[in-house]
Amino acid sequence: MRLAALRNMTIALPEEAPPACIEVRDLGVRFGALSVIEKLSFVIRQHEFVSLLGPSGCGKSTLLRAVSGLIAATEGEVLIGGETLGKQAPSLRLGMMFQKPLLLPWRTTLENIVLPVEIELGGQTVSHNDLARARRLLSLVRLDGFEDAYPQQLSGGMQQRVALARALMADPDVLLLDEPFGALDEMTREALNEELLQVWRSADTRLKTIVMVTHSIQEAVSMSDRIFVFAARPARLLEALEVSLPHPRAPESVEFARCLGRVRRLVREQA
Ligand SMILES: Nc1ncnc2c1ncn2[C@@H]1O[C@H](COP(=O)(O)OP(=O)(O)OP(=O)(O)O)[C@@H](O)[C@H]1O
Ligand SMILES: [Mg+2]
Repeated sequence: MRLAALRNMTIALPEEAPPACIEVRDLGVRFGALSVIEKLSFVIRQHEFVSLLGPSGCGKSTLLRAVSGLIAATEGEVLIGGETLGKQAPSLRLGMMFQKPLLLPWRTTLENIVLPVEIELGGQTVSHNDLARARRLLSLVRLDGFEDAYPQQLSGGMQQRVALARALMADPDVLLLDEPFGALDEMTREALNEELLQVWRSADTRLKTIVMVTHSIQEAVSMSDRIFVFAARPARLLEALEVSLPHPRAPESVEFARCLGRVRRLVREQA
């Protein structure tokens, strides 16, 4: 074949799966005699949104803490971006939002949001650009007008939103969310779900992967690519359900209802 003809040829390569972002291998976590996680293994790929569902006390928060490196695995290992946690500094940035907001009471809303940047700068004053970004995030979580309020002046749901903005301020590649919208009314919850999906899809942020603990089956179905359903303690992965409905997902559609039913049946079996 002549060279010119070769140049014009397009070679169809097989579509490759995105690289693994979080790999949990035979993970075990014990607190003294209490075994919370046993022999748990899964892979979450870049660009995936995964929700974790399971009965209260089954070990979801413990799993997020182990994935973020806040607690050490008793057995097995966690890899972030292919690197074993604790062995080397991970090249991917992790952002974590806890079940409780954990805001600093002596700092205003805006000062709490910029905290990750301040820590990274070693206590130096944050730039105007970073302050502007913090204000945009404050607006994204619907807290305009509350930038100078202190945590004790905010409701539980508002404090959770500050914590979400703070987690996003760190500009993470991977966001671990522990019941981020638990204390919110339905309307605010739906609005923030939509905002979070937009941040996740947006090309302006590094954010590629989200792992979210939720007790809302509806929220899990409307947001996730996959839903991990866990059995009661010790946390065992019962099923990783794929939700292949296109976004925006209409809760009134037949496909949505079917998916909701499947997850509900699985969760009910655990109750
Ligand atoms: N630091 C700790 N020391 C001892 N036991 C712990 C610790 N953290 C969690 N546990 C125990 O581990 C188990 C799982 O707790 P975890 O908070 O992970 O559950 P969860 O699935 O997040 O529950 P919920 O849905 O209620 O938030 C519980 O029995 C809890 O008492
Ligand atoms: Mg929890």
